[in-house]
Amino acid sequence: METLLKKLQNAHDSQELESIRIEALGKKGIITQKFSELRNLEGEEKKNFAQKLNEIKQNFETIYHAKKIDLKTLELKASLEKEKIDPTLFQSRTHRSIGHPISYTKDRIIDYFMQLGYELCIGPLVEDDFHNFAALNLPEYHPARDMQDTFYFKDLMLLRTHTSPVQIRTMQSQTPPIKMICPGPTFRRDYDLTHTPMFHQVEGLVVDNDNKASFANLKYTLEDFLKYMFGDVKVRFRSSFFPFTEPSAEVDISCVFCKGNGCRVCSNTGWLEVLGCGVVDEYVFEAVGYKNVSGYAFGMGIERLAMLTCNVNDLRSFFETDLRVLEQF
Ligand code: PHE
Repeated sequence: METLLKKLQNAHDSQELESIRIEALGKKGIITQKFSELRNLEGEEKKNFAQKLNEIKQNFETIYHAKKIDLKTLELKASLEKEKIDPTLFQSRTHRSIGHPISYTKDRIIDYFMQLGYELCIGPLVEDDFHNFAALNLPEYHPARDMQDTFYFKDLMLLRTHTSPVQIRTMQSQTPPIKMICPGPTFRRDYDLTHTPMFHQVEGLVVDNDNKASFANLKYTLEDFLKYMFGDVKVRFRSSFFPFTEPSAEVDISCVFCKGNGCRVCSNTGWLEVLGCGVVDEYVFEAVGYKNVSGYAFGMGIERLAMLTCNVNDLRSFFETDLRVLEQF
């Protein structure tokens, strides 16, 4: 018994302590065995022996519990020491993300135009036919109204198919001069490598009295903007058609991947289409009751610009919230 108590006192860790406990009090432990000897005794002798055994057992347990607490405290202290972290230590970040490529691109576009004094406007996502189509010179049977493209609700309400209705709302609520941009979600029934049913556009509108807002201003602004976005690229204006602008143009930049030599991304043309623009059509001014003004407007898809600046080739990966994709930016 003496040696058991000595062993207890000298135990180095909880594991050793536990094995000593088993040695004493386990099923075949020394103290347990002694208890079983009781059945061979009787009367006073049995009583005395039992009393003695209980004292020994209690003594063992008291020392055991005290030792257990000591060892646990020591072990906790050692592991805290070993696993200590210093949150004030400087650690360079391996993943410094730019945020989601769509927000990043949107913020860059907004920064550029706000520095030029453009006002940031927003408009409703659920629009009426007048603002999304009619006021923009998209007559009743225009193909863009087709059920194929537009998500319709009851009573000719719809999810806006572009940010251009915000042009109309801004002109209705303000007087010229106007200089605004409007970023936001837009919706069309489309789904493939380069289209998702929800995507983002940024609209720009400048309206001034008389003939101050000209195509030349528009051309200068967009050229400068595209150089800010893409660096040293060539910019070309291609004659095009939008019902709400006349003349209209689509704007291309020299391919950022092959520097204009021709590759898969630009279908070997050397050019990438990045936005649409034009001089605001008289019909649009009429629809909002404006007279003797001039203006220009432009619209671009944020996803398209983000795909080019962040080098992503499947637009859908922007919306799959896959951290492995997002961590690359
Ligand atoms: N709203 C047009 C579109 O969605 C883009 C555009 C905006 C074109 C403004 C010209 C002027 O394609």
